Parts: sequence; C-alpha cells; structure tokens
Amino acid sequence: MGPGDEVIVPDVTWIATAAAVKYVGATPVFADVDPTTWCLSVDSVGRCLTPRTRAIIPVDLYGGMPDYDALCALARSRKVALVEDAAEAVGSRYRGHAAGTFGTFGCFSFHGSKTMTTGEGGMLITTNEALHRRVQVLRDHGRAPGDFSFQNGEVAQKYKMSALQAALGLAQLERLGELVAHRRALFAAYREAFAGCEGLTLNAEPEGTLNSYWMVTLVLHPRWGIEKSLLQTRLDERGIATRPFFHPLSSLPAFAGELEAHRARERNAVAYGLSRAASTCPPPAASRPTTRATSRRRCARCSSWAARGALREGEPASVVAPRPAGADPHSL
Ligand SMILES: Cc1ncc(COP(=O)(O)O)c(C=O)c1O
Repeated sequence: MGPGDEVIVPDVTWIATAAAVKYVGATPVFADVDPTTWCLSVDSVGRCLTPRTRAIIPVDLYGGMPDYDALCALARSRKVALVEDAAEAVGSRYRGHAAGTFGTFGCFSFHGSKTMTTGEGGMLITTNEALHRRVQVLRDHGRAPGDFSFQNGEVAQKYKMSALQAALGLAQLERLGELVAHRRALFAAYREAFAGCEGLTLNAEPEGTLNSYWMVTLVLHPRWGIEKSLLQTRLDERGIATRPFFHPLSSLPAFAGELEAHRARERNAVAYGLSRAASTCPPPAASRPTTRATSRRRCARCSSWAARGALREGEPASVVAPRPAGADPHSL
C-alpha cells in the first residue's frame, strides 16, 4: 500500500481513520454515511470504488454498526481488503458477532474517553497468523517477538502498550459487560428524557445489532430550523455537556486542497447534514465521578426541560452562544 492506492473511509469519523491511510502515502477517499446508522453507506462505497481501491475501512461510529453483510460482500466481490475501525465500539455486536471481527483486522482504541480504557493505547485483532506475526515486528521497531539480540530487521514503528496499561486493560475486559451495560443504561435514560421531543433522533440500533452507545448523540430534524448550538446552549445551562458531532473529514483544514476532499464535499449530503444537526453527549462520568443517581438526576433535568417545551416549535432559530474558542471537540 502506498502512493497511488486508494482506501475508502467514511467522511464522518475521527481523523485517525484517514490519518492511517495518509501515513503510508495512500489516498483516503471519503464516502458518504448512511442516514440511519451514521456509518459507511454501502451505496456510496460502491460509487467510490475504482481500480485503485485497495481497502475499505468502515467505522463503527459512536458504537453503531454499519451493514456488514453488504459491506463484506462488496469487499469480497471487488477483492479489496476490509479493515474494521471499531475504536468506538468495543462491546457492540452485529448479528451476534462482536465489533472488530468483520475485517482482516479489527482496531480498538482504549483512549481515556472510551468504554474500556487503558489511558491511551489500543488493540489490533486478526485471525490471520502471517499478518499477526508481521504486525508484531512492525510494532516493535522491526524486532521479532522475543528478540534480545537487538538485531532490528528493518526500520518500523513502536506501537506497543506497556505492561501496566495491559494489566489495566485486562481488568477492564473482565468488566466489559458491566461497562457496556452502564453506557446502555445512560442511553436509555437520555432516550426516556427526550421521549416527548418530536424531531429529535438518537443513536440507532437496527434489528440484529447491539449498540454499545459509546456516545449518546442527538440529531435535530432540519424542519425545526433550530441551530444545534441553541440545543447545546440549553443543555449546557442545565449542566448537560455536549460536543459537536464529528465534522466531515472533507471539510477539515487538514484535507484542504485535496481533490478527494473536494469531491466528497460535492457528494456527501448525509455526512454534511448530520454534522450540521447533531451533537454528542459525553457521559457524565467523563467530567466527574458519577453514580447511577447522578446520571438519573441529570437526565431528570433533561426531562423537565423537555417537558417545559424548551425545544418545541416557535423557539427562535438563532445561535445563542458560540462554543468556546479552541474547545477540543474530541476531548472529553
Ligand atoms: C473512529 C476512531 N478511530 C481511531 C481512533 C484512534 O484511537 P486512538 O486515539 O486510541 O489512537 C479513534 C479515537 O478516538 C476513533 O474514534
């Protein structure tokens, strides 16, 4: 994989998905996302495939799962690799299969914001023995596993987790069911709180999938004509933190001037519509220690606000307060 090769990624994801493509000199091609799952749209991938396509990287966005039946079939029929970016979806499932198990590789993030964390770090999984051996060399400055002669076979990278972090990760893994159940309970509380708000859509869990709801997400229907910053301000006033939904990668300064970004801006109406209308709600635990009672109290605050009709039709469509300059949308 290198210059001239193309890799299809969703336009809506964290930049890391596309950065990995750039690291090897290949070109990320930004496909549109599905309006329900917010993950890669199979139709859009079909339109982005070219003879230069070497791989597709679906992302299990915010814990949601794309249509893997169709994506895997498409990748097989076009003989391109599929690498699953399950960074945000540990614990999610699609037709009974765990997130991370749909491609040649599955990638997980254990960043501090994630459902299961080791502070920083992550995990790559594969059932391919040869690729596993290759990765073990690449992740350790070109040393073969168990090498103590310091005879580096090639210049590679260092992508190793420390033993301390791994110990933390193993302990978290034992509690994965509990950690996912907590995220799902949080989502259920938000869903209940917003049940009376017509025109507000939360994360989808299509039949056959289990969403680990890494990040509760609220999408305002455009017909309301309400700026999402108003929703964010109103929630903020009630002590409920929000962050922007991911901006389409093709809109970021990092890809300004790239032909593929230009094409994606013309093409990806769903990604752009979502990003205009959606906000995420980092779990209360991210800002301070949370008990179930705290989550319930916060969601009760959403409920009373929703019940008072703060977002009903007639609300002025204006930006009340800009987000603080320099706020890192990705940090929690
Ligand atoms: C979709 C996605 N891919 C990749 C990553 C990269 O993970 P890390 O920050 O652990 O390298 C993240 C991190 O948040 C992510 O959300």
